[in-house]
Amino acid sequence: MAVDGARPEHEDRTSGRPLPPMDVGIAVVMVGLPARGKTFMARKLARYLGWLGYACAFFNVGNYRRATFGAEVPASFFDPGNPDGVAARRKVAMTALDDLLSFHQERGGQISIYDATNSTAERRHLVRERLEAGGLRVLFIESICHDASIVEANIRATKLRAPDYANMEESEAVADFRARIANYERAYETIGDDEGAYVKLIDVGRQLVLNRIAGYVPGRIVNFLMNLHVLARPIWLTRHGQSLANVAGLLGGDEALSADGRDYAHQLKAWLEGRMEKDGDDVVVWTSTLQRTVETAHTVGKPAMQLKALDEIDAGVCDGLTYADVQRKMPAEFAARQADKLRYRYPQGESYEDVIRRLDPVIIELERQRDPVLVVAHQAVLRALFGYFTGAEREAVPHLRVPLHTVLELIPRAYGCEVVKHRLGPRVGESDSG
Ligand code: F6P
Repeated sequence: MAVDGARPEHEDRTSGRPLPPMDVGIAVVMVGLPARGKTFMARKLARYLGWLGYACAFFNVGNYRRATFGAEVPASFFDPGNPDGVAARRKVAMTALDDLLSFHQERGGQISIYDATNSTAERRHLVRERLEAGGLRVLFIESICHDASIVEANIRATKLRAPDYANMEESEAVADFRARIANYERAYETIGDDEGAYVKLIDVGRQLVLNRIAGYVPGRIVNFLMNLHVLARPIWLTRHGQSLANVAGLLGGDEALSADGRDYAHQLKAWLEGRMEKDGDDVVVWTSTLQRTVETAHTVGKPAMQLKALDEIDAGVCDGLTYADVQRKMPAEFAARQADKLRYRYPQGESYEDVIRRLDPVIIELERQRDPVLVVAHQAVLRALFGYFTGAEREAVPHLRVPLHTVLELIPRAYGCEVVKHRLGPRVGESDSG
């Protein structure tokens, strides 16, 4: 067996300049038996923290094992009584840890996530010692499932699709995976209070146990994780119907809908009614506080909640101008925005980064909801939300396509999100800053 060498691509979300360091230099260490949703949580957390602007990377030891030893190792590889297996697993775990440390020390990393079972106190002690020696604060996240149906659902939703079982019959794969879990169970030790900062999540957030959690980032992490669930339900994102400002090509404002915009609102109502026959009666509708979204939702006819956080990007001194006006009257501002649309802040207004930050509570609420949610909002705001759910690079967020009169349907899947675009009429053109 080859031991050294192969290193898989890890998921690195360092694009762009990192935020000024505030309470960072944190290694999040996952803990738990296989099929406890660790990778699901770790990936979502990495995506969330990256979206918020932290230089965050995710290191999955399973990927290192597959890259080094191949995907198809027998369950006996995971037997704690098999010294070769123990040594081989330890080796790949340490390679991943080396990469994680160099992410912080050489590549400006701020938060890393170390995704492995880390199922014995001895292994956690070793990992923690190395991370702390590297100047990092360690936060353990242990996922415990007493509910066997959660484990079963997890095996079927994720593990059977893993490369480990690409060439195996389903029943054989399930049996092998159960044998693997049994091997880990023989050595498993839950985290003790003397192991530092930890969060224990029991049955996907039904119960949480916290130990020595302090600071802004650990607080955000706990808040995020406690609102996650695995129930599939759609999220529908749509802009308001075309407004009079859209017709005139004006930025911002608080105009009413145009005739085409009102037409869209009626089509949206009919579309939603069709969907609710399929997805059940309960839908949660959120709008911004601006007239064009409120009017659209009013036509849809469901009770809607207005959220200030969903208001369109504040164009500051450019509010009420066209892109051409801005280019003519404030060429330097126009050029600065073209050069860095993510970070450019309108004088007396906002940047996309500002919008992302104010949407943080909206993301938490969207993650928490169990019913379908219809969000009626605006171009920049929806780009930010869409970017979160699709895992877009931050730099790409201000350029994502979110056209008028279109519903973007997001369907959460085990490790990502499926997107379906529903183009409803009428077709309208609009000016674009690119
Ligand atoms: O043009 C419609 C609009 O929602 C404006 O109110 C807003 O300023 C703009 O889109 C945001 O898009 P961009 O960031 O591409 O200018």
